[in-house]
This record gives sequence, C-alpha cells and structure tokens, in this order.
Amino acid sequence: MNALDFTVKIDDLHQYELITKNYPEKLLPDQVMLAIEKFSFTSNNITYGVVGEQMNYWKFFPTQPGYGIIPAWGIAHVINSNHPEVKVGQRFYGYYPMSTHLLVTAGKVSNKGFMDITEHRQALPPIYNFYVNIEQDPLFTPRTEGLISIFRPLFVTSFLINEALADQNFYDATQIMVTSASSKTAQALAFLLAHRKKEIGQEFSLVALTSDSNVAFVKNLGWYDQTISYEQISHLTADKKSIIVDFAGNHNLQFKLQTILKEDLIYNCLVGLVDWQNLEGENPLPKEGTFFFAPNQVEKLQKEWGVIKFQQKVGEALLQFISHAQSTISIKKYQGVEQLKQLYTDTLNGKVDPKYGNIVSLNES
Ligand SMILES: NC(=O)c1ccc[n+]([C@@H]2O[C@H](COP(=O)([O-])OP(=O)(O)OC[C@H]3O[C@@H](n4cnc5c(N)ncnc54)[C@H](OP(=O)(O)O)[C@@H]3O)[C@@H](O)[C@H]2O)c1
Repeated sequence: MNALDFTVKIDDLHQYELITKNYPEKLLPDQVMLAIEKFSFTSNNITYGVVGEQMNYWKFFPTQPGYGIIPAWGIAHVINSNHPEVKVGQRFYGYYPMSTHLLVTAGKVSNKGFMDITEHRQALPPIYNFYVNIEQDPLFTPRTEGLISIFRPLFVTSFLINEALADQNFYDATQIMVTSASSKTAQALAFLLAHRKKEIGQEFSLVALTSDSNVAFVKNLGWYDQTISYEQISHLTADKKSIIVDFAGNHNLQFKLQTILKEDLIYNCLVGLVDWQNLEGENPLPKEGTFFFAPNQVEKLQKEWGVIKFQQKVGEALLQFISHAQSTISIKKYQGVEQLKQLYTDTLNGKVDPKYGNIVSLNES
C-alpha cells in the first residue's frame, strides 16, 4: 500500500519534499493502519518545525536523513487493524504526520482510545501518543469537529495560561498585553481572560497588539479592551503595571515593549514564535521573559482538581469558545498536495488570514 509524506528540510524549512512510502498489506500483531482524513494547519505547526530539534518534534514521525515531518492535529479512520479491540472504520483524533497514512501499534486500548506504543515514540510525552476515539468524546460532533480539530490543542494552552495568571492574582496588573493578538491561541486566551475578568471583577484592561492589516478583525472579536497595531506601539500607556503574553517572539517588539514599560512590566510570559524569522535583534533585551511550560501547569491543575474534572472544565470552556468562534472563523479546506504546498509556504511566510481556520486533506475525500 502506498502512502505520501510531506517532509521538510530540518535546516531550511522553506524546502520540502513529497515522499512515497510503501507499507506491507500484512500487519504485525497490534498494528493498526490509519488513513488521515484531515488535519489542521496554523502557525503552531510552523513553530513545531522551528523548535523541532530542541523540543524533539522531529522524533514523532521519523523520515529520510536531514528531513522531518511536522506533526499536525487531526482525525483519521482505521483502514486495517491487527488489534482485536481496534476496528476498521473507527475514527480517532490525535497527533498525525502531514501524510496520507499513519501506521501505529495500539496499546492500552479502551473505549476512550488507545496509545501508540511504537518503540520510537515511547520516550516522547504520552499526551502526544494518545488517540481519542471520537465516537466516545462528546466534544466531537459533525458540526464541531472541524473547529475542534483546529482549536483544541491551542485552546488548552490558553486555558492553562489563564489559570496560571489567575493563580497569581494576575500579579495585580492593570494591563495585560497580548502580542499576535489575532492568532488563534491568543483569541482563545482573550476570550478566557475577558470572561474571568467579568466573573471576578478584576480591573485589568486587555490590550491587543497586532498587524495593521489585522486591527479590524481583532477589534471585531470583542474580547480585547483596546487594539493597537505594532506601528502605533508608542501610544501605549506606560504607567500601568503590566503583563505581556507574547505569541509573536519578535525580538524588536519585545525590546520596544520592555523599553516603554520598564519597571511596570511585572510578568513577561513567552508562549509563541509566530514571527520566527525575527527572533534575534541588535539590542540586547533589558530582561529575559519566562517561558510558559504547559506540562507543569497541567500537572498542578490535575493534582488540584483531579484528571476528570480538569478535562471536564477544559471541554466545557472549549465548547463555549467554539460557539463564539463559529461566527468569526470560517473553515477553509485544502485538498491534495498542490494546495498543501501553497498553504505551507504562505503560513511559513506569515501570510495568514486570521479569519480562516485551515484544514488539510491529502487523501481523496
Ligand atoms: N507553548 C505552547 O504550549 C503553545 C501552544 C499553542 C500555541 N503556541 C504558540 O502560539 C503561537 C500562535 O499559534 P497559532 O497556531 O494560534 O497561530 P495562528 O492562528 O496561525 O496565528 C496567525 C497570526 O500570527 C501572526 N503571524 C503569523 N505568522 C507570522 C509571521 N511569519 N510573522 C509575523 N507574524 C505572524 C499574525 O498575527 P498578528 O498580525 O496579530 O501579529 C497572524 O494573524 C505559535 O507560535 C504557537 O506555537 C504555543
């Protein structure tokens, strides 16, 4: 059986190569062959490539030397199974290669899903090795599965940041600034912060920093109190105790913000690197920020609330968010290799229109 992988050159993400792989028809015990129906693709996937080496993202789906396969969240169905409890036709949500197929070895199978226990994935974080049986997960309905596929991995991070900030009483800040405010992860954070602010009567203003071309989109979301383009940053109020949540990773932007805020910057939370081609700059930064490490916060909340309550709370909040996002984000479908090449190149180069959520399928629909 032939499968197709979209591979990228590890030391130059602008170069990619399509590789055809041949799988034997006969599976080994517990092996399951999945046909990937669709996966979401956002700047987060580019970040997986940018930090692939440091964060081990290339190790999930190894390919030819010097190349890697960027992981993507999506949905696949079983087309062949040699595991007694995994049936042909079942659909699973999880971490997939940018490919037509994935061969896994199923373990720890339950009605909720299974783990891929393939040898090379065992040293990697288990959260990425679990495949959710979407029939058993109320989050997934035919109406929501596109937006859930796009937002679920991003929303969880925003949920964790919101809880981490609330734990610290928002550092008594009166201003929270969010860079790359139009990104999907930032949108989810702004939604959560705006709601938390109302619930607890906290007096901070939420400030969106975004590109000039995305100002109208960000304003229309309705979650931020103020929207400022990067060109207008000098208009920022400097005398407010401030938090930055940085999704952009742009060195010069950090430098400008730190120079304006000085001692009023009380917490600088580094989350994203969408502007990956501008991570370096001439001026040394006055202060290092704090890298947000999601697994620590997951562990803390799961200890406090229990795993089930944690999952319930994230799921409920995600559904609320999705019901709003439906009116601001349209799903855009990309079918086949040529369309994927275009989407990949555009996303790599920052040509991202925030009003679309991109879903790719390399298999014939
Ligand atoms: N640490 C974690 O656990 C974690 C989890 C989830 C996401 N993240 C990170 O959060 C970031 C946002 O991810 P996402 O998937 O939500 O992004 P997204 O929705 O694809 O973001 C699109 C927005 O990012 C900005 N942008 C995109 N590419 C750019 C480029 N090349 N140069 C400059 N600006 C660019 C633009 O926003 P503006 O015009 O508003 O600047 C654009 O509208 C990523 O770096 C992702 O890895 C981290």
